[in-house]
Amino acid sequence: MKPSKEQWSSRFGFIMAAAGSAIGLGNLWKFPYITGTSGGAVFLIVYIIFLILLGIPILLSELAIGRFAGMNAIDSCRKINSKWGFAGAFGIIGAFGVMASYCVVGGWVIRYIINSVTDSRMSADYFAEYSSKSFEPLIWTAVFLLLTCAIVTGGVSGGIERVSSVLLPILIVFLVGIMIYSLTLPNAIEGVKFFIVPDFSAINGFSDFIRIVFNAMGQVFFSLSLGMGTLITYGSYLPKDNDLTSSTITIVALDTAIALIAGFAILPAVFSFGFEPTEGFGLIFKTLPAVFSRMSGGTFISSIFFVLVLLAALTSSISLLEVIVAWVCTKTKLTRTWAAIIVTLLIFIAGCFASLSIGAIPDIAIGNMSLFEFFSFFSDKVIMPLGGFFICILTGYVWGIPQASHEISNGGRLKFRMRKLFGVTVRYIAPALIAVIFAVSLFGI
Ligand code: TRP
Repeated sequence: MKPSKEQWSSRFGFIMAAAGSAIGLGNLWKFPYITGTSGGAVFLIVYIIFLILLGIPILLSELAIGRFAGMNAIDSCRKINSKWGFAGAFGIIGAFGVMASYCVVGGWVIRYIINSVTDSRMSADYFAEYSSKSFEPLIWTAVFLLLTCAIVTGGVSGGIERVSSVLLPILIVFLVGIMIYSLTLPNAIEGVKFFIVPDFSAINGFSDFIRIVFNAMGQVFFSLSLGMGTLITYGSYLPKDNDLTSSTITIVALDTAIALIAGFAILPAVFSFGFEPTEGFGLIFKTLPAVFSRMSGGTFISSIFFVLVLLAALTSSISLLEVIVAWVCTKTKLTRTWAAIIVTLLIFIAGCFASLSIGAIPDIAIGNMSLFEFFSFFSDKVIMPLGGFFICILTGYVWGIPQASHEISNGGRLKFRMRKLFGVTVRYIAPALIAVIFAVSLFGI
């Protein structure tokens, strides 16, 4: 296996591509609704603590492993220790799990673009009615997957970087505009309070608190695309003089900024229009149309906004599909195009069941979760934290902090100020946190 020779064309391009993978439905759709169902500000505090204790050290470890080895996720881990290829393998199962629910939501977004353009009414009930239809959502799920597949087979190398660099700044401008509008709605202050002033009395005992903590951990992994080897691969395209620490902090800051702005755009509107913050995964699909319908030029803004959400989702979904396709290509004799088509079909089948499980056939459930919820539970709360756990052990013990720090400091040329903190979090705090949260929430110990 030769080290990849491909490289990002600039530091800005790399940051935009990594942020493009991180920023997606996780920030715009999931973050506001999980905050809503997890007690608002209490969740936000736990989320920020986890960003520091889990997000930053694991992201930095993944980039360092990738740049050190210069290969795909599995081979990079293997280069550090021949028995550790499995640590990079979580991405393949994780990517499948993420995609199975991502494509359904991507399909909803496309439907909402069309509704915005044709100026169809999208009342709050519309979402429940639409998402539980049996046939139509499957078509838009397929369209979302076809778009993803077409981009992946068409070759991504220059593409991801270019699309993300343009998209992200536009997205930020739009989101800030919607946020400002939401904040001026009547009663918006209630939403702001819900988001940033913790109300511990809203937590229903220890098990509720653990649920919030578990949600926050899953969201950190999901939103930053961690534990799946994606950032190992991205790190492998980095030049040796890139400052990994500052890149990490920039990526985390951008991803968090978008999530926070989305929170400030959605939650005040939720309270202003009298929706429930605990609504669940339909939250933005109910709230945003209500916001847009009040704005002058709302139809136009709504169309553009949902197009931006779609593009943000696509820059994430292409890198998810790419993870699986790249692996299938190395394991089989299939060409890239066939590999992409077959994988897309398999995801589509899983996505169909996920979509139907929401309302049309509620019997498709695992335990008390619909299949749709199960896929996201399994990927963000099981696979990604496990992947992250092994990345910590690999970096902290197998590779070792001195070697990792050597890579992070570019062979001692840069000062690695956070070295102590990095060592302690990677070796002890992050793995212990993941293990304890896992044990307590899955097994109720
Ligand atoms: N972070 C993406 C989002 O917030 C979703 C995601 C999770 C992802 N893991 C990934 C994207 C791996 C690309 C690669 O929407």
